[in-house]
Amino acid sequence: MRQNLVAGNWKMNLTYPEGLALVEEITRLAGDAGATGPEIVVCPPFPLLHGVGQALPQGGRFHLGAQNCHQKESGAFTGEVSAKVLASVGCEYVILGHSERRQYFGEDDELLSQKLKAALVAGLKPIFCVGESLDTREADETFAFISKQLTDGLFHLSNEEFEQVTIAYEPIWAIGTGRTASSAQAQEVHAFIREQIARAYDAQAALNTTILYGGSANAQNARELFSQPDVDGGLIGGASLKAVDFATIIQSF
Ligand code: PGA
Repeated sequence: MRQNLVAGNWKMNLTYPEGLALVEEITRLAGDAGATGPEIVVCPPFPLLHGVGQALPQGGRFHLGAQNCHQKESGAFTGEVSAKVLASVGCEYVILGHSERRQYFGEDDELLSQKLKAALVAGLKPIFCVGESLDTREADETFAFISKQLTDGLFHLSNEEFEQVTIAYEPIWAIGTGRTASSAQAQEVHAFIREQIARAYDAQAALNTTILYGGSANAQNARELFSQPDVDGGLIGGASLKAVDFATIIQSF
């Protein structure tokens, strides 16, 4: 069966000392998540990855993730980081298709397909993000939009490849805005995503896929969101930068 998972997306925040202090505090507060706790993924900026990975408790529920990777294995791509390099510093996960990457860096479904492949070849587990804008929601086109993101960006993977993928539903209008999707809105889209997986792959794949909610999830609303049958955890931005809040979210199942 699928795993519950909480991932902290630090985005472009925290210096190295601040990052180390944060993981020390998180592991003190939530390090005993125990056998029934969720998998925990910490996603710092690139230069912090190795050091933060070393500071995480080893061999348990804590894992290291990156926020992006390049689609090529190596080469003359100044300033870029390959999935292979990420794996070599201890990353197990990589966030791909975040709306900020799509919006500010022009990442489209074709590019994301290549990044997914590169991540999988390097042995990384992608956390693949989808989500609609406010305009799309208000035009009643949420389902069509999400379906297209899944079909064009993700469902080209083979069954074996798809097994490695976690999906994050992140409505753009809820990211960093303090405006969370209601648990019913989240559940409705998560159930829809699971149906789409069953169509593209099979019922077992749909049951096994971890689907996270992201977008102003916090210590106050996590329990309600995670109580929904198709919400298997969260991709947490702002609240992952506060140890007490992130630990509370981890303990919200
Ligand atoms: P937020 O960000 O929790 O700050 O809304 C979530 C995300 O963008 O992954």
